[in-house]
Amino acid sequence: MRLILLGAPGAGKGTQCKRIVEKCGLLHLSSGDILRQQRSDGTELGKKAQDYMDSGRLVPDELIVKMMAVAIAAAPEGGFVLDGFPRTVNQAVELDKSLDSAGLKIDAVLNLIIDDNDVASRMTGRRSCPECGAVYHVANLKPEVEGKCDKCKADLVQRPDDTLEVVQKRLGTYHEQTEPVVGYYKDSGCVYNIDAGQCPDMVTEIIFDKLDSID
Ligand code: AP5
Repeated sequence: MRLILLGAPGAGKGTQCKRIVEKCGLLHLSSGDILRQQRSDGTELGKKAQDYMDSGRLVPDELIVKMMAVAIAAAPEGGFVLDGFPRTVNQAVELDKSLDSAGLKIDAVLNLIIDDNDVASRMTGRRSCPECGAVYHVANLKPEVEGKCDKCKADLVQRPDDTLEVVQKRLGTYHEQTEPVVGYYKDSGCVYNIDAGQCPDMVTEIIFDKLDSID
């Protein structure tokens, strides 16, 4: 199965992708995580992406399309779930072209819908594990021990782009450049709108029901 999760910053794409991956055995391909890894490895791509990410702007399409093509080409036959990609109509067109040429297609686009007013508190309260990538929230998804990852016990960290100022910029970027991607996929009949304003377990239940219906 090949899935795309769309949604504003903080809609819960990363949180839900981790659960989908556990249930369906798919590969989780997060463009944001790959970029952060490139940055911490100090690669050319990481250096080029840095200023864009820190200011809440999108990294240029040509860099992202190439990066994700490499990641997708290495994915197992069982499929993958794309998190944070495609994020512009141009990226979606390029993704379609490369899937077409491999005789593949996207089975479902899950569009996580959240009110703009909920985004800031979700983002500024997010804490992540630098070791295993687990995601928590200081109020909504607390770790068992404050500040520590449940799985690997590492100290949780806050992402540098989760400040209120950068979050507002990311939200504007989302409305301007990423929302049109939903329209791009609409004609294909594979878009499922999900109310992501509910608690994480409820959102997971809705997503699993949808996935079972298209299995
Ligand atoms: P990226 O890392 O993709 O960030 P994003 O899309 O802004 O999404 P987030 O990861 O911030 O949010 P999420 O939806 O995954 O929410 P999460 O599950 O963590 O991108 C970062 C940057 O990289 C971009 O700004 C850009 O510069 C660059 N980039 C990446 N991809 C690119 C591309 N394709 N093209 C160009 N540039 C690209 O949840 C958030 C918080 O809310 C957590 O604390 C969680 O515990 C909590 N939460 C989750 N669900 C719920 C719920 N249902 N109820 C209450 N709380 C919840």
